Amino acid sequence: MILEAVDIHKSVFMGDREIRILSGISLAVSAGDSIAITGPSGSGKTTLLGILAGLDLPGSGIVRLLGQPFSEMDENARALMRNGKVGFVFQSFHLLANLTALENVSLALEVVPGSRDIRQRSQHALSMVGLADRAEHLPSQLSGGEQQRVALARAMVINPAVLFADEPTGNLDHGTSEMVIEMLFSLCRETGATLVLVSHDTRLADRCDSRFRIEAGKFVSGS
Ligand SMILES: Nc1ncnc2c1ncn2[C@@H]1O[C@H](COP(=O)(O)OP(=O)(O)OP(=O)(O)O)[C@@H](O)[C@H]1O
Ligand SMILES: [Mg+2]
Repeated sequence: MILEAVDIHKSVFMGDREIRILSGISLAVSAGDSIAITGPSGSGKTTLLGILAGLDLPGSGIVRLLGQPFSEMDENARALMRNGKVGFVFQSFHLLANLTALENVSLALEVVPGSRDIRQRSQHALSMVGLADRAEHLPSQLSGGEQQRVALARAMVINPAVLFADEPTGNLDHGTSEMVIEMLFSLCRETGATLVLVSHDTRLADRCDSRFRIEAGKFVSGS
């Protein structure tokens, strides 16, 4: 198992009121597999993905990544593992506005100790998503689909063990979505990356090896 979550609970407190977001989520993903997490708005998908990716911590339960107790590591160790092993694609791209496409991608390598050939590898990642000729563009000088392809290049440039994608086509039109999805699946296939995807789009979920449906913080079905 490359990624494992055991009995994840997460609450937030608003004043003295506890809001339960996740209530006992467990899952295990084999290396190279793709899984889709679906469910209604507010059911906890983004919260779960953040916890699995080590961006956030569970209230209780444990996340293991590559056999290591990811969610129990201290902040520094977790950041080191996340920067080296985890790619993340957000619905809203999350590119840094004052950096070019190439610089946005390079940054992902710069935070990995011992990275070499940063410029060449970043340029290669951009060409893998068909954007070799957009390297010097700022995000504002790119279309939505192009920005998401830069975000995909940034996620993949480190050769992640797991790629997380939260509604990666939620802000794109139909045709552009198709292109981004094709790239996402083909890059994961080529590099052997495990894919954990959140999507409302059933066609997209159907392309994954397995699907989990979350409602009110619990899995109600999974295959
Ligand atoms: N920091 C927070 N403080 C308070 N409530 C929060 C916080 N983060 C999330 N929530 C609540 O937790 C629930 C789950 O949120 P989450 O973003 O995980 O849902 P989601 O399934 O990704 O929804 P969507 O499909 O709309 O993106 C929501 O009801 C949300 O209001
Ligand atoms: Mg969400």
